Amino acid sequence: MKKNIDVLLGLQWGDEGKGKIVDVLTPQYDVVARFQGGPNAGHTLEFGGKKFVLRSIPSGIFQGGQLNIIGNGVVLDPSLFKAEAVDLEKAGYDLKKNLFISKKAHLILPTCRVLDAAYEAAKGDAKVGTTGKGIGPTYTDKVSRNGLRVGDILEDFENKYAKAKARHEQILASMNYSYDITEMEKEWMSGIEYLKEFRLIDSEQMINDLIAEGKSILCEGAQGSMLDIDFGSYPFVTSSNTVCAGACTGLGVAPNKIGNVYGITKAYCTRVGAGPFPTELFDATGNEMRDKGHEYGAVTGRERRCGWIDLVALKYTIMINGVTHLILMKSDVLDEFPTIKACIAYKKNGETITHFPYDIEGVEPVYTEIPGWQCDMTKFTKEEELPEAFVNYIKFLEKELGVPVKYVSIGPDREQTITRNI
Ligand code: GDP
Ligand code: IMO
Ligand code: MG
Repeated sequence: MKKNIDVLLGLQWGDEGKGKIVDVLTPQYDVVARFQGGPNAGHTLEFGGKKFVLRSIPSGIFQGGQLNIIGNGVVLDPSLFKAEAVDLEKAGYDLKKNLFISKKAHLILPTCRVLDAAYEAAKGDAKVGTTGKGIGPTYTDKVSRNGLRVGDILEDFENKYAKAKARHEQILASMNYSYDITEMEKEWMSGIEYLKEFRLIDSEQMINDLIAEGKSILCEGAQGSMLDIDFGSYPFVTSSNTVCAGACTGLGVAPNKIGNVYGITKAYCTRVGAGPFPTELFDATGNEMRDKGHEYGAVTGRERRCGWIDLVALKYTIMINGVTHLILMKSDVLDEFPTIKACIAYKKNGETITHFPYDIEGVEPVYTEIPGWQCDMTKFTKEEELPEAFVNYIKFLEKELGVPVKYVSIGPDREQTITRNI
């Protein structure tokens, strides 16, 4: 049986360049679907001198013709969704025809955002550094069977909303947390009305019908595997399964239907928010990565922490996801570096560790060095143009990680992507 569902996901701590590559690959598919996360994501795409940052809307909307689906595993903030969709409409992209939203996707309430802030404040120094979008409280409500879903807006919604809000207010009162959601709530309610103009569906049925018709689907991950609720650097993670299995539960797709799994990694590594990051650099090299890679949050503008590529963590996330192809991003950022380092093991208490341990807090990276290519790759269009030293870096990664590199990204634009003949 031909497997016509592929999954594309981040292998690090997010911001690997998923949005760009989903856009590049979209013409190969009939459908693009988001399966988890919410507006904590910021997926950047650049083409024709234009730049877009998507939060909840799949990155398959720009190539034309494809259907785009927001799956049941996603959490949706109606006001942020409206703002995003209206901006796209103004830019000439009408979503009402080709965007479908699962009735089973959970709603982020204004009080979820307040709870996010309240829980962070209560954690003090141990705070996660969340995006403040109410992601954790919304998934908490889902799991504790208190959540509101998109389908709920179609019937007796005011009553359901009032109950959920009252429950949140009780928690906030018990925390002595003061807040004012008057404005937020107005925008949110207007978002709810706007949502009704969209095609709210049983997306699992639609997706499986499309599969039966032989249509091909690209599942777009958000965040990264190191932020996965089960396998990431817990508790400094997000609240959903960002790994490949999340595409099954977040879309209603059976595991045996999944074909290729595209794992995306930067040629180095970044992280936003708190939590351990073994290869983090606090020196001029780290600053150079941040400057050249414009490593600032796509939405929040927060400075991203930068460091060398971590092959111990990558081997682990490749294993968990069953990655079949790697996509190497932002290689151009290292164009001028004389030497590239890669972490091949950790050291803790004098012991060398090559498998990803339970806790990465306090591990010391063990590096190997690879000669840099020291040339401008941003104008290249063909595999043959890639410098030998860079090809050697790719071969090194392939050997260490055991998976081929299918695409190489050498700049933010759609065109700055090289397909390898493998
Ligand atoms: P996502 O969340 O995984 O979609 O990634 P983000 O959009 O948050 O962050 C990736 C950033 O890197 C964006 O600003 C992209 O425009 C940019 N980008 C993507 N690929 C490349 C690349 O190959 N080279 C450079 N220099 N920038 C890139
Ligand atoms: P994309 O899809 C990078 C991080 C936050 C924080 C932790 C928990 O653009 O790659 P949350 O708001 O989810 O409860 O925050 O996860 N985080 C991301 N970091 N890219 C993202 O998304 C992220 N989404 C969440 O910084 O450390
Ligand atoms: Mg991002």
